[in-house]
Amino acid sequence: MHRVLALFGDITQRRVDAIVNAANTTLLGGGGVDGAIHRAAGPELLAACRAITESPPGVRCPTGQARITPAFRLRAKYVIHTVGPVYRDGMSNEPKQLANCYRNSLELAAQNDIETIAFPAISCGVFGYPGMRAARIAINTIDEFLTTHPGSIKQVELVAFDNDMQLILSNAIETKLGEAT
Ligand code: APR
Repeated sequence: MHRVLALFGDITQRRVDAIVNAANTTLLGGGGVDGAIHRAAGPELLAACRAITESPPGVRCPTGQARITPAFRLRAKYVIHTVGPVYRDGMSNEPKQLANCYRNSLELAAQNDIETIAFPAISCGVFGYPGMRAARIAINTIDEFLTTHPGSIKQVELVAFDNDMQLILSNAIETKLGEAT
């Protein structure tokens, strides 16, 4: 299991090349980690998001896809905005869409020579994704990407904003390590 770390803290403080934002399809900001990232990055981030093409009107990033902008006042160089699925019942394509968020964010990072990246627990707040299910999808998708793209991303941080989520992420990583041996 590559360099994948589960950490506890505020993602806006991470010293990585890119931090991932759990945004919505408008990319015009919101609450949760989206709000925290926009507050820390400053107003230029919203201006950069506004400049992203809307297709269809009002949609700058469809669910499961990712867009990249500079990070302005953040320590990081880039913000990769991705839009997670709203959790319904786990059988409405949410697992696939959540996996797409991690995979497309990592693809975009690799295309921009990003070596270190931090993810929040995408969809696990307002969008209601159960933490353990989301953690398993995140870690499986990240591990698969790093295995099939050797020499790209050097380190992936999974940044939890509460102790429960950090424990869930750590356990999911341990489980994955157990599978590998
Ligand atoms: N650092 C790290 N993680 C954070 C931070 C932070 N500063 N703030 C919140 N989180 C965590 C939450 O605790 C949760 O575990 O990020 C995870 C994702 O929660 P949300 O931010 O609510 O994102 P999500 O569930 O994907 O919902 C996205 O919420 O803010 C709006 O515009 C956003 O409409 C979109 C929706």
